Amino acid sequence: MKKINFIDLQAQYQQYKLEIDSAIHKILDTSAYIMGEKVKTLEENLSKYTGAPYALTCSSGTDALLLALMAIDVQPGDEIITTPFTFIATGESISLLGAKPIFVDIEEDTYNLDVKKVEASITNKTKAIIPVSLYGQPADMKEFNALGKKYIIVIIEDAAQSFGAIYNNNKSCNLSTIACTSFYPAKPLGCYGDGGAIFTQDEFLANKINSLRVHGQKETYLHQYIGINARFDAIQAAVVDVKLKHFEKEVSLRQKIANNYTKKFLDSKIIPPIVKKDRTSVYAQYSIRVKNRTKVIEDLKKDSIPTAIHYGLPLHLQPVYKNLGYKQGDFPVTELIAQEIMSLPMHSFLEEEQQDYIIEKLLQHTA
Ligand SMILES: Cc1ncc(COP(=O)(O)O)c(C=O)c1O
Repeated sequence: MKKINFIDLQAQYQQYKLEIDSAIHKILDTSAYIMGEKVKTLEENLSKYTGAPYALTCSSGTDALLLALMAIDVQPGDEIITTPFTFIATGESISLLGAKPIFVDIEEDTYNLDVKKVEASITNKTKAIIPVSLYGQPADMKEFNALGKKYIIVIIEDAAQSFGAIYNNNKSCNLSTIACTSFYPAKPLGCYGDGGAIFTQDEFLANKINSLRVHGQKETYLHQYIGINARFDAIQAAVVDVKLKHFEKEVSLRQKIANNYTKKFLDSKIIPPIVKKDRTSVYAQYSIRVKNRTKVIEDLKKDSIPTAIHYGLPLHLQPVYKNLGYKQGDFPVTELIAQEIMSLPMHSFLEEEQQDYIIEKLLQHTA
């Protein structure tokens, strides 16, 4: 049996090598390295794929969130409601603008922000809600949009992990006014460096983000906003554009592997991921819950099975957020999941033999 990788970018590269190399060489031949035609083509393809009227690429998923918040004019003192069970970038983008992240607990089945608990935290300072579509499964976007409409606040889907997922027949990234994704190499649709994209249904916001990502420029050397340098580079765009052509096939392979894992874990002590009926997951992570996580991870390591923890320390308990005044016990569901969660190898090149081995060893170690 081949060595098991947590994510196998090398196997993927070998599969598309001719196409990727040729696409990269075309950029090298044009010498147009930043933005330009390739970036535009990719944006058209991303818009077509997601159905979002506007797709704007940028330098990372983190910058995508920052640009989205800048576009809606987030100011110091504003409050942005989000989940504490996410990667730091979700909170960081809020804090960078001097706004305050207001954390609300998650659902025990999907680990996504619990929309039922959000309303109580809305104040007249709330400017936006950022539900994160964690591990690849969209959050309850319909209910979040209804809240957004009721209180006139913007809903920004953090779709860094869920590009390609479906919710009520629509694609993630086209489920609310703004969405942000990441093309970090390990993401289901990744490039070979940093990259991201913002999607919006609003023309004004699209134009503003288009300007903000290039130093707020209206035209060359004429600036209308204080922006940032968040331009996307053409080589990365070329890589994403090739991978996008193969993406649907990869998503279904990921789902097939996830279904295989889940089926085998049903009568065990392992809690597999739960995907709600009206949506799909692209399984950016296949994350399970176990009671004795440290021991299970150690045992799997001895069997050469790599694992990871997403995420062991929720944002409200991170040292950097001490000033927000949260304490242990504030978000019991988040804190419980953070203690039990662990992610298994997941990529579309994981062979059946490898899957069976992972399942067998995991069942052994959790029996
Ligand atoms: C939920 C979430 N938000 C934001 C980001 C930030 O994306 P990037 O690493 O491309 O800046 C990530 C990716 O790591 C993520 O998982």
